[in-house]
Amino acid sequence: MFPKPMTLPSSHTYHYLLLCLFLLHHLPPCPATSGHWSLLLPTIGISAMHMQLLPNDRVIIFDRTDFGPSNISLPAGKCRSDPNDMALKRDCTAHSVEYEVSSNSIRPLMVLTDVWCSSGALIPDGSLVQTGGFNDGERAVRVYKSCDQCDWQEINSGLILRRWYATSHILPDGRQIIIGGRGQFNFEFYPKRSPEEKAQNMSFLVQTYDPEIENNLYPFVFLHTDGNLFIFANNRAILFDYINNQVVKMYPEVPGGDPRNYPSTGSAVLLPMRIVQGVVAVVEVLVCGGAPKGAHINAKNGKFDGALDSCGEFKYPTRILNGGTAGWENGRGPVLKPVIYKPDDPTGSRFEVQKPSSIPRMYHSTAVLVRDGRVLIGGSNPHERYNFTNVLYPTELSLEAFSPSYLDPSSSVFRPKILSFPTRFQYGKRVVIPFKVQSLVDMNLVYVTMVAPSFNTHSFSMNQRLLVLDGGNTTKIAGNSTYEIGVTAPPSSNVGPAGYYLLFVVHRDIPSEGVWIHVE
Ligand SMILES: *[C@@H]1O[C@H](CO)[C@@H](O)[C@H](O)[C@H]1NC(C)=O
Ligand SMILES: *[C@@H]1O[C@H](CO)[C@@H](O)[C@H](O)[C@H]1NC(C)=O
Ligand SMILES: *[C@@H]1O[C@H](CO)[C@@H](O)[C@H](O)[C@H]1NC(C)=O
Ligand SMILES: *[C@@H]1O[C@H](CO)[C@@H](O)[C@H](O)[C@H]1NC(C)=O
Ligand SMILES: *[C@@H]1O[C@H](CO)[C@@H](O)[C@H](O)[C@H]1NC(C)=O
Repeated sequence: MFPKPMTLPSSHTYHYLLLCLFLLHHLPPCPATSGHWSLLLPTIGISAMHMQLLPNDRVIIFDRTDFGPSNISLPAGKCRSDPNDMALKRDCTAHSVEYEVSSNSIRPLMVLTDVWCSSGALIPDGSLVQTGGFNDGERAVRVYKSCDQCDWQEINSGLILRRWYATSHILPDGRQIIIGGRGQFNFEFYPKRSPEEKAQNMSFLVQTYDPEIENNLYPFVFLHTDGNLFIFANNRAILFDYINNQVVKMYPEVPGGDPRNYPSTGSAVLLPMRIVQGVVAVVEVLVCGGAPKGAHINAKNGKFDGALDSCGEFKYPTRILNGGTAGWENGRGPVLKPVIYKPDDPTGSRFEVQKPSSIPRMYHSTAVLVRDGRVLIGGSNPHERYNFTNVLYPTELSLEAFSPSYLDPSSSVFRPKILSFPTRFQYGKRVVIPFKVQSLVDMNLVYVTMVAPSFNTHSFSMNQRLLVLDGGNTTKIAGNSTYEIGVTAPPSSNVGPAGYYLLFVVHRDIPSEGVWIHVE
């Protein structure tokens, strides 16, 4: 039923599997009754094009600034005057909001320059450092430090080059790398080591560039445990030593050669990485979706090809709800059913179809995992401006939550509850985590995971990391239905860059509510 995983040539003891998946209707028929959707807010005033969870359980959400008024005013009668704005020189509406999970409420924020199709990463102190965009925002760096009154701070010309549709990734030294963007076949770092630090050319982006549709935008970037970057653009991947600007390994083209990066929007997931005695033996990347060659041009001419795929999530999802050729007015055939991907199950039964949503989430929609295990889903705007009438898919301002099947009430007796925990994890040090479970615990089915909060836009989550910590199956009884498990913090900043992670105790594949810990 499913194509066999393709094992690519291994590098050292590691290897990648690139699994290419097929259309949803190729999935075995499933009752699709698991999971639960709820509408959190019918409108947050903006369409959620970018989302990032912060370590205080607030989500920074932003759209673009250059299309006219949004549906929410700036606070306290404030207005933004921007002579460069293409629609409104004086705009009293907000294009960014902060969502607080606990109170289910939003607060409007003022972003000063155009953040359209930009990128970002949380830095080790928990601030969001966000880069690039369009027009007056193309070289901006913006910092969001969270507090009850905080707002965006901007560093003009923080980047050397314009970055529109670039990908960011946090690095083991705490800086971030910003790769590519429209018309940019190069990368740079933020912050710079010195004022002299230059952007560097990257031949892989030249080689994967298709001038007709620019199919290598928003490349899929992951930090490998050996410190190199895995970079997928268009239809192939490399392992890249960014320190010496050298390709360490070149992977063959994906069979068929169809493009998978923006605007042929597919997605990619770094599968859970299991640490055993300080080593991650296998690193797997799942690349899904994309569009057949020519789909983008066809869509411009009114012919809508099916997406190459729509596919799965894994146990702690960064979602992949939709795919296919992206762009204004290009969306057709929305995928409403999320799919959970279980990488440890036998091929052929790894996908679990979940209950469908009733709201199509097209181009410019986003999703992030929050601490309690739900996935927030917002946005969808396949139009140049906000358009709520006489269009196939109106601009969507709502915010929904999807509760995957692991949150179903039938799982609650197995769900661990973390009792107390150390908040600081030092590399390689052992930590003991006490927890409680209502049912009898199956000692062999308890493990601890750490999930990095990623930056989501355009069907991709930047800075993905899900670590399964060393020390599974060491559960001990501590008292009346209380237990403790001893685990080892990640061995190095290559395996887990410093910063905030959500930690979960998992029992029988049912996760606890997460707790925030800081790796240092
Ligand atoms: C957004 O504002 C426009 C203009 O005021 C209005 O027509 C529209 O109904 C609003 N949409 C939503 C979903 O609130
Ligand atoms: C980088 O690429 C640009 C554009 O192709 C070229 O002009 C420049 O010389 C290159 N720089 C280096 C250091 O190779
Ligand atoms: C919305 O889209 C329709 C169809 O293209 C168009 O006729 C209408 O003018 C648009 N409305 C706005 C407010 O842009
Ligand atoms: C725990 O033990 C079981 C049974 O021996 C094994 O299948 C499983 O992989 C182990 N889990 C971990 C996290 O070590
Ligand atoms: C454990 O639970 C039982 C039954 O609820 C109770 O009688 C006993 O005192 C508890 N023991 C401890 C150490 O809390």
